[in-house]
Order: sequence, then C-alpha cells, then structure tokens
Amino acid sequence: MARKIGIIGCGNMGEAILAQSVKAGKARNFIIFEKDKLKEAFVCRIYKVKSAIDITDLLYKCAVIVIAVKPQDIDTVLEQIKKRVEVFKKRDILIISIIAGIKTEYIERRVSVKIRVIRAMPNLPAKIGEGITALTKGAYATDRDLRVAKKIFDSLGVTIEIPKERLIEVVTALSGSGPAYIFFIINAMLTAAKALGLDNKSANQLIYHTVVGAMDLHKASKFDAEKLISQVASKGGTTEAALKFFKDNKLNEIIYDGMFAAFKRAKELSRK
Ligand SMILES: NC(=O)c1ccc[n+]([C@@H]2O[C@H](COP(=O)([O-])OP(=O)(O)OC[C@H]3O[C@@H](n4cnc5c(N)ncnc54)[C@H](OP(=O)(O)O)[C@@H]3O)[C@@H](O)[C@H]2O)c1
Repeated sequence: MARKIGIIGCGNMGEAILAQSVKAGKARNFIIFEKDKLKEAFVCRIYKVKSAIDITDLLYKCAVIVIAVKPQDIDTVLEQIKKRVEVFKKRDILIISIIAGIKTEYIERRVSVKIRVIRAMPNLPAKIGEGITALTKGAYATDRDLRVAKKIFDSLGVTIEIPKERLIEVVTALSGSGPAYIFFIINAMLTAAKALGLDNKSANQLIYHTVVGAMDLHKASKFDAEKLISQVASKGGTTEAALKFFKDNKLNEIIYDGMFAAFKRAKELSRK
C-alpha cells in the first residue's frame, strides 16, 4: 500500500501528470487529493483513480507525494504534512514539488525533519506528453529518489537533471515559461497574416505547419539555428526583409531582456 504516489492539487499540472501516467498504464499507482471537490470527483471518474480523505490519509497510503498547488497554497500543505509527519513519526516519504520558486531548503525547513525533497520544473506541453522537466535534489534526497521522480516525469516527455538548484530559476525562465513565448509569437504572426488578408483557419494551418516543420527540421538537421536561418533567407529576398526589420528593431535584444525579466521574477518569487 505505501508504495503509492499521491498528488496534492489536480489543476493543469497535477492532472497532466496523472493523465500521462494513466496513458502509460500506471493509474493504479496514484491517489489524489484536491481541494476543489467537484474537480476531484471529475478527475477520479475520468482517470479511474482514488482520492484520499485528507492529507493524513494520503501520507498514510503513499511513499511519494507530488505537490502541484500554486505557490500561495504551499504553506497550508506543508503545515499539514509537518503535523502528520510529527504525529505519525512518518518520515520515510519523498516529496516532489513542481512549484515555481519554492526551494527544496524551504520545504525541508517547513517540515522540519530531514525530509527527502526533489524539485521539478515541468512545462505545459506535459499535458500531451511533449513536455520537458528539469529535476534537482534537495539536501537529503538520494540518487534513487531522483530515479523515482524521473520515472514519473518520463511519462510527460523528456526529463533532465540540473545538478545546481539555483539554475532551476533559469530553467523556469526558459522551458517553464517558454511555451508562452512561442504562443506569443504565433499570435503576432496570426494577427499579421489576417491583416494581410488570410482567413483565420488557413492562417492557423500555415502557422502550425511552419512552426512544427521548422522545429522538426531543426531536430533532424545537423545545423544550428543560425545556419538554418541562412538556408531560408536568400540575398535580397522576402525573409531577409523581415529579418532586417527584426534586427533593426532589436528583436533579439527584446527576447534576451524578456528572458532576463522572467529569470529576475523567478528569483524574486523564490523563497529562502
Ligand atoms: N502551468 C504551468 O505551465 C506550470 C509549469 C511549471 C510549473 N508549474 C507549477 O505547478 C503548480 C501548479 O500549477 P497549475 O497551473 O497546475 O495550478 P492550478 O491549475 O491552479 O492547480 C492547482 C490546484 O491545486 C488545488 N489546491 C490548492 N490548495 C490545495 C490544497 N491545500 N490541497 C489540495 N489541493 C489544493 C487548487 O484548487 P483551487 O483552484 O480550488 O484553489 C487547484 O485545483 C504551480 O505551483 C506552478 O508554479 C506550472
């Protein structure tokens, strides 16, 4: 019984972990606890998993707890974990937190025992098994814990290990927020295409295949992005006109500064 994996919070990311694990045939391993009882009932019905009565019940039944609540809800959850750990002297749990900005040291201190903590930074394409998750270990977590976490997040796409926890803030600004940057660019391209006369459906179809095709080519090619740009942009041509405009208006610097802004915010949100 105690080998189960508990998920606290079944919103976007908690449900994504569950959905992809169920797809990989691992539904039986999971128990969930969600504050919103309507959502909890829905998730249990769709994925055919059980829910815990409360966090005590979840801790009793699970060896691994994935915390997937918003940063503002973490203290309530850790307070409950701390109480249960103290009362039941149950220290043999692994906590996996996917919460942006919450350091492993913060969780260790709040639970106030030598609790094993893994910090994970997934991203939204995890919903369809195309995500990338960065994992890092807390002070008391072991390589085995890292492997346990990797097994869970491998169902969501690719998993990489980041040995230095401070670099998780960089990962947050890159792959955590990154899908939104791409959607932002897609939206700008869509607006321009429609302003130039294309209908919504055709423009979306053209953009979709352009983005996916470009990424697939990038993956398949031995060239880096700069070389691939030169393969599209012929001298005096249309692409060159757009690229010149981007460069003249310092689009590369804007993206650079935007990522630094995300990194700075991730650090500000980061709790010591
Ligand atoms: N979304 C992303 O792309 C992304 C990427 C990387 C990391 N993350 C991290 O993932 C975490 C979750 O994000 P999300 O987008 O999945 O948030 P979300 O959709 O708001 O899901 C969080 C869920 O947890 C529930 N909850 C709150 N307090 C709880 C408690 N004490 N016990 C049980 N359930 C509780 C919430 O219920 P209520 O709605 O009723 O409060 C909500 O259903 C965040 O900390 C975020 O930093 C998100």
